[in-house]
Amino acid sequence: MGNGQPIIVVEDLTKVYPGGITAVNGISFHVRQGEIFGFLGPNGAGKSTTIMMLTTLIKPTSGRATVHGYDIVREANAVRLSLGYVSQDLAVDDALTARENLYLQGRFYHLPKPEIEKRIDEVLKLVNLHDRADNRVETYSGGMRKRLDIAEGLIHRPRILFLDEPTLGLDIQTRREIWRYIENLRAEYGMTIFLTTHYMDEADSLCDRIAIIDRGVIKAIDSPSTLKSQIGGDIVTLKIDSVTPERVQAAVRATEALPFVRSVKKQENSNDSYVVVVNDGETAIPAIFHAIGREGASISSIALKKPTLDDVYLFFTGKELRQESGSREDAMRARMIMRRVRR
Ligand SMILES: Nc1ncnc2c1ncn2[C@@H]1O[C@H](COP(=O)(O)OP(=O)(O)O)[C@@H](O)[C@H]1O
Ligand SMILES: [Mg+2]
Repeated sequence: MGNGQPIIVVEDLTKVYPGGITAVNGISFHVRQGEIFGFLGPNGAGKSTTIMMLTTLIKPTSGRATVHGYDIVREANAVRLSLGYVSQDLAVDDALTARENLYLQGRFYHLPKPEIEKRIDEVLKLVNLHDRADNRVETYSGGMRKRLDIAEGLIHRPRILFLDEPTLGLDIQTRREIWRYIENLRAEYGMTIFLTTHYMDEADSLCDRIAIIDRGVIKAIDSPSTLKSQIGGDIVTLKIDSVTPERVQAAVRATEALPFVRSVKKQENSNDSYVVVVNDGETAIPAIFHAIGREGASISSIALKKPTLDDVYLFFTGKELRQESGSREDAMRARMIMRRVRR
């Protein structure tokens, strides 16, 4: 999948908000037709700002981008018609039924009434809401609301769908369910999907390629598996026990000096825990034990694993992406968003 022509092309795109915050700082990338492409990064990284520029909701400060061949500034109308956009805030009206919500969306695109009705049935089937179409949205679960939100983005049959944090604040089962609907849109309709997320598992299991974005800058772009293999080794996590900080330092230096050790990094917010990237974990562990022991320190715990996308993130940004799926913070944000759309 995703071997098609570039359908989104971004060159040196920058957004400086009034007041001086550079939210997006000279990013360049492309998305291929039929690809599920993800922007992975923490809150404030510039994900929504990028989506809003590409969907023509805000203007870039500098740089260029085309969507479906249309320039996002000079041909904004054509861009808008070729894409669907599902914002990170729920946009559906609780007091209306799904059908009524979709009808309004169809009118927004100036579709004729009979055409809207046809398409409503079509998109409701896509997100499996047709048997609840005439219930008010206030009776829906969080996952159903999000599916309706996605259906709204599809009413004008776009070729490209932009999803800004599509599973924010949903529980893990519901998130997986949303992933299946997204995969299905690509599989059945060849739709190109650009999504943002701060969930590592989402990027890993859903996206063909991801861009790791941090403070408005793209740090790496590739498929999750290629990114993992770029770390190029096994990961040994160990905790050093010692009587003095000097001995811990000596133990770290001795580990770094081993020929098959690629890097040693202290884990953030930890006491003497280190992440060691090595060529081959099985043979490295005994040698690491030996080297650290020689410095008069000892290892109180050790673990070996293959790199995950978390390790990739740490490697490229130097920090961990806090990702408590369905965390309290996320749930709170989601509730606030829902309250905003209620009347
Ligand atoms: N309308 C705005 N005016 C000024 N600053 C903004 C505005 N929207 C976002 N920002 C700032 O731009 C940065 C990127 O925000 P955003 O694109 O929303 O990130 P993300 O979606 O990755 O969480 C943040 O520092 C945010 O505070
Ligand atoms: Mg955002």
